[in-house]
Amino acid sequence: MTKIFAYAIRDDEKPFLEEWKNAHKDIDVDYTEELLTPETAKLAKGADGVVVYQQLDYTPETLQALADAGVTKMSLRNVGVDNIDMDKAKELGFEITNVPVYSPDAIAEHAAIQAARILRQDKRMDEKMAKRDLRWAPTIGREVRDQVVGVIGTGHIGQVFMQIMEGFGAKVIAYDIFKNPELEKKGYYVDSLDDLYKQADVISLHVPDVPANVHMINDDSISKMKDDVVIINVSRGPLVDIDAVIRGLDSGKIFGYVMDTYEGEVGVFNEDWEGKEFPDKKLADLIDRPNVLVTPHTAFYTTHAVRNMVTKAFDNNLALVEGKEPESPVKLDQD
Ligand code: COI
Repeated sequence: MTKIFAYAIRDDEKPFLEEWKNAHKDIDVDYTEELLTPETAKLAKGADGVVVYQQLDYTPETLQALADAGVTKMSLRNVGVDNIDMDKAKELGFEITNVPVYSPDAIAEHAAIQAARILRQDKRMDEKMAKRDLRWAPTIGREVRDQVVGVIGTGHIGQVFMQIMEGFGAKVIAYDIFKNPELEKKGYYVDSLDDLYKQADVISLHVPDVPANVHMINDDSISKMKDDVVIINVSRGPLVDIDAVIRGLDSGKIFGYVMDTYEGEVGVFNEDWEGKEFPDKKLADLIDRPNVLVTPHTAFYTTHAVRNMVTKAFDNNLALVEGKEPESPVKLDQD
């Protein structure tokens, strides 16, 4: 009997895993709540493939241990593949899939909601409410329709974000090195990032964490932006030099920062720090600022997205183990 073993299954994923299991009674599905590590790799022994998700790196040691357990067909439940040692995966003959599109709306909606909250100074207003300070001033909002919204990266998520912002009445401009022909025809693209920085009141990042994009938001790019700019990063922490953003917030150049991803997030996000020493002073300071909205990489975290992540990852893994073409194979030669 074909066997698929899943790692790091959370409680919120279990109903969707059971749903898939019920629809595939001829497949033996087993799982653990533990992450995939060199130590836990042996749990997959006897399986034909594994379904995984973790922010922890898939190190050469982890991949080797999995291969030693006889498993080289690995299906991620998420989109990002930046934490996989691709050279080692290739060397060991791994076949890998991810779920590139599980719910662009989940992430785009979160970016849009947070952008609107920043523009209306909602966090400041909430803090006033909590203190029973019911005065209006000086907590005045900016309307979305008065903003030029600059979208960097016009893939699935970027496009949904553009639609939502247009629904609010904003003027949307975009930049991408891979232009979408439909969007190009409609005239959304500016010629360069500098053009976008010069024009946009709100800037949202929707590009992957490839070397060329690391710290694309830095002192130099911020200096080219309009005063009172709002920056949104619901994509990947390393896209932003956070020290440069802090300098921009301190000087007043940046009106607000939306942060769902953070360069130092691994091991800090998705943990309960209540009553414990908080491990990152910079992050604590960002969380406390009235014009910074921090969420712990939860833009994706909706029932719609989680169902798709589980179902599509299992579908992909079944295709791999049955020698069929999976819906979304990962190219192991990443540029
Ligand atoms: C991804 O799918 O790569 C994400 O960023 C969401 C992840 C935290 C599950």
